[in-house]
Amino acid sequence: MISYGKQTIDQGDIDAVVEILKGDWLTQGPVVETFEDDLGKYFGAKHVCAVSSGTAALHLAGLALGWQPGDIVITTPLTFLATANCIVYAGATPDFVDIDSATYTIDPNLVEKKVKAYRTVGQNVKAIIGVDYAGHPCDWKALREIANKYELQLVNDNCHSLGAKYFGDKQYAVKYADLITQSYHPVKHLTTGEGGAVLTNNSDLDEKIRRLRTHGMTKDENILEENDGPWYYEMHEVGYNYRITDFQCALGSSQLKNLNNFVERRCEIAKRYDDSFSDIDYLKIPKTKNTIEHSYHLYPLQIDFDKLKKNKSEFFKKMKESSINLQVHYNPIHLQPYYRKNYGFKKGEFPVAERFYRNEVSLPIYPNLSKDNVEMVANSILEIIST
Ligand SMILES: Cc1ncc(COP(=O)(O)O)c(C=O)c1O
Repeated sequence: MISYGKQTIDQGDIDAVVEILKGDWLTQGPVVETFEDDLGKYFGAKHVCAVSSGTAALHLAGLALGWQPGDIVITTPLTFLATANCIVYAGATPDFVDIDSATYTIDPNLVEKKVKAYRTVGQNVKAIIGVDYAGHPCDWKALREIANKYELQLVNDNCHSLGAKYFGDKQYAVKYADLITQSYHPVKHLTTGEGGAVLTNNSDLDEKIRRLRTHGMTKDENILEENDGPWYYEMHEVGYNYRITDFQCALGSSQLKNLNNFVERRCEIAKRYDDSFSDIDYLKIPKTKNTIEHSYHLYPLQIDFDKLKKNKSEFFKKMKESSINLQVHYNPIHLQPYYRKNYGFKKGEFPVAERFYRNEVSLPIYPNLSKDNVEMVANSILEIIST
């Protein structure tokens, strides 16, 4: 069965992990720091804190930024649950802004409109979380301008766009957002099994995130209220065990060496899909703004099932019969029962994201998906929609 995403592991990755398993450190040790340094160099970040998942990274980002009850944090409805859940974890109030119909990322004009609307009723938005959906960077210049104008915090949930370029720059993320979160789940551009990181150029935020990664513990002499000796630590705030292990980080550093090749291969597959579908009625390929280079974590194809008079579930079933397991990214978060019940969101509130959801299918895309399999996926889709 061909799935929409999958890790690519080579002998170098296996050797790197085995070497650590033979050593002294199994949980957080020196290789975590090496991985953090490697990530810092690749993404141009002064500080990187590797953690146990992308969800943990988002949770710690919200806590480090001091979100609390009463704060309003805006994000896109077109993302994985974790992006919005981290707002809830902090006790803050989530709200959404619809996506831009060309890039599928949060629409900055609508963000500003919403921020202003809150102001007119005496409420201030605390932060915006942009998501570089599918591997297409948001309009970060516009989001940064809004963040500066209205004194908002800006987070980049960067899980989908490792290796993408914004204005020719692969290191764009830390140049615009205050905190960047990444995930190294197996379907992502590089993997550590489970894993993630928070990247930033702000040393205060980084120090806080490091403390919260390990129960809020500190041995920093500038913070300690007392100091009984070299064993002594204190806790001034509640943290978590969000540590990542040395063997996971050995895998991460090894994978990072292949990231450029991984992105290149994803782009080749995307080009093949583009060529197959761009001239076909009722199909819409993902567009790329001329200011960016996509890194194709996903290949979201839109199929106008209504106009085709086809049923999406039926289409999925037929693809599965051809051994192709598609996915949909995402069921808009405001439509989740939890968000509807607790925050009163309704169908129709974010129409662009909702229409996108109805039409979207995520096609298989990962570095070691063979040329023949890419052909097979493309041909199966064309056949099913034409019969
Ligand atoms: C946009 C986005 N944010 C956050 C996450 C959460 O990452 P993790 O699965 O590593 O917790 C994911 C992963 O699926 C994601 O796609």
